[in-house]
Amino acid sequence: MENPFAFSHYVTGEGFCNRKKEVARMIDYIDSSQNVLLYSHRRQGKSSLIQQVFSILDKKKSGVGKMHIDLYGTVSEQDFIKKVFKGLSQVESNINKLFKSISSAVKTLRFTLAVDPVTNQPSISPTFEAIKEEALLEEVMTLLDRYSQKKKLVIAFDEFQEVATYTEEGFAKRLRSYIQGHTKICYIFAGSQQHLLTGMFNTSDQAFYKLADSFPLGTIDKSAYVSWIQKLVSKKKVRLSKSIVNNIVTRLENHPMYIQNFMFHLWNLLPDQKITVETVDEIEASILDRKHLEYASMWEGLTINQKKTLKLVLINDGHQLFNADALKSVGLKTGSLVTKALNALVKKEIIVKNGRYCIQDILLKKWLIKTLEL
Ligand SMILES: Nc1ncnc2c1ncn2[C@@H]1O[C@H](COP(=O)(O)OP(=O)(O)OP(=O)(O)O)[C@@H](O)[C@H]1O
Ligand SMILES: [Mg+2]
Repeated sequence: MENPFAFSHYVTGEGFCNRKKEVARMIDYIDSSQNVLLYSHRRQGKSSLIQQVFSILDKKKSGVGKMHIDLYGTVSEQDFIKKVFKGLSQVESNINKLFKSISSAVKTLRFTLAVDPVTNQPSISPTFEAIKEEALLEEVMTLLDRYSQKKKLVIAFDEFQEVATYTEEGFAKRLRSYIQGHTKICYIFAGSQQHLLTGMFNTSDQAFYKLADSFPLGTIDKSAYVSWIQKLVSKKKVRLSKSIVNNIVTRLENHPMYIQNFMFHLWNLLPDQKITVETVDEIEASILDRKHLEYASMWEGLTINQKKTLKLVLINDGHQLFNADALKSVGLKTGSLVTKALNALVKKEIIVKNGRYCIQDILLKKWLIKTLEL
């Protein structure tokens, strides 16, 4: 029987737990073509939520055209434009139709047609020779607007924070001006580097200021998790007790990916092994073992002050980090060293500031506590 727990790709359908309110809210934004900024810490389920919403739209035969564009790794306006072109095949899988509508809409642009050898999906990529990117962006955005006049669209730009690193003059402002004119498109801007993303949308001098409604994605309700896990496990004709499932969800602080990863391993022990708290401890220990190399190399890559500061955060649970005794306890001499190290650790996404500083990755936290014997 196939393991229903998955942790390395998007999950939808039965592998997707709850988030009923979030799905409904997303569908409202799409129905009314309003833009939304979907953000959370890493691996909380933003991309899965987008995919789940898209598959529900399909099931409902909503007739909405859907594009999910992953901007991860893009470094320029040119990359952005290429990704949007590639995404067009998601709304129009008929290559001839796609070619025709692009040819009629686009004037200055030359493009090549190709079929992806792996997925067999047609895709179109623009040629950038002798054409200014500014003109290309205008053409592609106009094309989207045209499509949306025939068929309502939802376009999710995933990992949107990448846009902040593009260096082309005025890109963000130009993009904003097109998006603002698109009344039949719901744009979902999703990403995880919270400080970058919220800075782009919530700071009055930034191009995307107030362009989208803010949608922080929180954790999944514990009780929903418990019944979802119990239901999937019952496929093996096993009943996992509420208290064991609660134990797992609580120790992983409701983290969706870690819970899936944990349950993936637990599933493999079923139905032969009786699952007790000791079994749960053993699974956690073996997951931490497998993470050892990754976490050790992260730790070794830190400066001595960053290491001390990380210890400080752990020992004090993110509180009173500038207290003289606290600094002394980890051998840090001044508060300014702490400030510098905290900034570097946030940039590396090792810690986050949520009212107080904390380690976002619950497994890393457990590994540090174990390894540093805190
Ligand atoms: N609703 C859900 N129910 C159960 N598991 C989920 C759910 N959402 C996400 N997951 C788990 O979390 C993992 C990460 O999800 P996803 O890739 O959607 O998160 P993300 O926030 O987009 O991550 P990233 O920050 O890396 O872009 C999935 O592979 C899956 O294991
Ligand atoms: Mg994602």
